[in-house]
Amino acid sequence: MKITSSFHVLCFLTIISLPSLISSQSCQRSCDKLPVKYPFGTGSGCGDPRFQKYINCDQQKLTLTTHTGCYPVTNIDYANQVIYISDPSMSTCSCTQPSKGFGLDWDAPFSFHDDTVFTLLDCSISSSPIYQSTGINTGDNSSLAPMCDKEGIPICSFLYSCRAISMLSLPISTCCVYTPVDLGPAFEMDLRKLQCSSYSGFYSFNGQESNPDNWKYGIALKYKFNVYNDYPSNCADCERSGGACGYSGNYNSFVCNCPNGINTTSDCVFPSYNNALRFLPWQRGIWVTSLLALLWNLP
Ligand SMILES: *[C@@H]1O[C@H](CO)[C@@H](O)[C@H](O)[C@H]1NC(C)=O
Ligand SMILES: *[C@@H]1O[C@H](CO)[C@@H](O)[C@H](O)[C@H]1NC(C)=O
Repeated sequence: MKITSSFHVLCFLTIISLPSLISSQSCQRSCDKLPVKYPFGTGSGCGDPRFQKYINCDQQKLTLTTHTGCYPVTNIDYANQVIYISDPSMSTCSCTQPSKGFGLDWDAPFSFHDDTVFTLLDCSISSSPIYQSTGINTGDNSSLAPMCDKEGIPICSFLYSCRAISMLSLPISTCCVYTPVDLGPAFEMDLRKLQCSSYSGFYSFNGQESNPDNWKYGIALKYKFNVYNDYPSNCADCERSGGACGYSGNYNSFVCNCPNGINTTSDCVFPSYNNALRFLPWQRGIWVTSLLALLWNLP
């Protein structure tokens, strides 16, 4: 009788401790509706450490953080290695608003995609440095030209024809198509310094160049996995087996975070599990079955 009741206690304890053994994947494979794959991760220890500083799944929203603010990630093109973000402070055809600008951190593993076009709006013709002479080759008239892209004048016209912007009746000369390559070593578009009150960014005309209502507003950034830009094969194996790539330890060594919460150094396919402290799913299954059988047979 004594043996049976201690058995009961043992079974009870085992059952209540089971859920803690079955932990869930700490690195999620999606955030909101966006799939999250290498080099991105949803939190600390997930993805690639170089990217983790900047990209996080924060309250089920994938977010890029830079020294100028937090920006929702709207899409990731994994095949072409492009990440699309939106800036809630930027102006679009339907809404103009003041902005401080946008900047990337100097050490961020991103750069502007060539498709990204920045248009500075409502710049001060008298004081904005974009209209000043560069000071170099003063004999050459071309150096007196503003830093704005002359080929971008049609873009300015279309944008200034948007109702929200046309209501301000700004002269077209206060608009400047500012290509990302001009952002300089600071990767910074500081609108206060440039004396412009807002900006608009888009990465596609969406097939309708003359219809700024339909342009794709936002910022496209490209990224590289590493200097050789190859996808680590252990990570590819990990993702193929349902895991999420992560890192741990002092040397940020690779870990594969499997769906049941187990971390391996390879992938989530049996028998490569190497965390002996955890129960494998099939072992756990057998374990639970025998436990239930035991309980069933108890008086
Ligand atoms: C597995 O790795 C992830 C990412 O590094 C970490 O957050 C988690 O705590 C690890 N889980 C275990 C059980 O070690
Ligand atoms: C520079 O401008 C002056 C007048 O503004 C003009 O006479 C001259 O030809 C120009 N030089 C060049 C190289 O365009």
